[in-house]
Amino acid sequence: MADETRSVLLNPGPVTLSERVRQVLGRDDWCHREPEFAELTREINSRLVSVYRETATDFESVILTGSGTSAVEAMVASFAPRDAATLVVANGVYGERIAGMLEVQGKPVYICEAGWDQPINMPAVAAELDQHADISHVIAVHHETTTGRLNDLGPLGELCKERKLTLLLDCVSSFGAEAIDVEGWNVAAIAATAGKCLHGVPGISFVLARKSLWASGLVEAGSVYLDLSAYHRGQHGSGYSPFTQSVQAAFALREALEELEDEGGWEQRRSMYRRRAGEIATTLQSLGLTTLLKPEEYSCALWSWLLPDGCSYESVHDRLKGHGFVIYAGQGEQKTRIFRVAHMGDITNADLDRLKQAFGDCFDGG
Ligand SMILES: Cc1ncc(COP(=O)(O)O)c(C=O)c1O
Repeated sequence: MADETRSVLLNPGPVTLSERVRQVLGRDDWCHREPEFAELTREINSRLVSVYRETATDFESVILTGSGTSAVEAMVASFAPRDAATLVVANGVYGERIAGMLEVQGKPVYICEAGWDQPINMPAVAAELDQHADISHVIAVHHETTTGRLNDLGPLGELCKERKLTLLLDCVSSFGAEAIDVEGWNVAAIAATAGKCLHGVPGISFVLARKSLWASGLVEAGSVYLDLSAYHRGQHGSGYSPFTQSVQAAFALREALEELEDEGGWEQRRSMYRRRAGEIATTLQSLGLTTLLKPEEYSCALWSWLLPDGCSYESVHDRLKGHGFVIYAGQGEQKTRIFRVAHMGDITNADLDRLKQAFGDCFDGG
């Protein structure tokens, strides 16, 4: 029977947990400096590189305790050089944040910005590269959650390959649910997190990098906590991490990764998210709402919807929350224009039916 009372998260992480993942949070207590946790760390890292066939052999992963930002910042700290420049390709909050990280780390950085509702501007990227011969690394965001745009990384990857540039990616809101063509795009490293498309809990994030990058691409991190070389040495040596790890979040991540595999892997998850996106879109469009971007520009994981005239975000949010659904506000310049609906987590058909009714209550006739 449908649970009419349960609360469902439609924000892009944390997600509504499956019962299977929730159960393991209550396991017995483990110390992170005991061999069983070292073994769990090894298993998680091995499962993480196996989510995508393409990363299974040539990549190694490390986990760290922190949200997605910690993995992105650790990747930037540990791989972006000090003696050459990094080009950040940005069309939203998360790309701009990466440029900010490089600035506070005191590293040479250029930024190639497009409007938040625009795709990556490839001619502008090529022009930046032509103009600045000191660029050796490029960083981009795969799924720019600011709007829901799935950035088309094929042309960027090709350009980086041609010019022998190292490409680093923020895949925080795409890992586990979108294609990541590490060979085609010639990706060197990926930062992501447990609490979004993988359906774990927040608190663990991770960086996957090519074995060659771990061997010869690490730089002086300028940070104690975010120095990935220490995590890599520890987790791929004794199995231990330099600092206390979130043991319960690790239980949840292991279970979530096995659940993903049991459900058919990232492709199945993408199909499931796409089905949810389609059903939600049909409902909202029938109520007269329109999207910020073209439907084909969106990721499977999150879409952004224009607030109808006269509807504030707060009124829509509060009304839906009254029905048990938590949506997400726009950021910055989009704050008063859009609301965002993520399709991640354990959402049942009954939840979707209830959501359709809730949208009707919210938007039908104002
Ligand atoms: C693309 C992207 N990068 C980075 C982050 C930051 O992750 P966190 O909020 O877990 O630190 C997010 C969060 O939504 C994101 O969507």
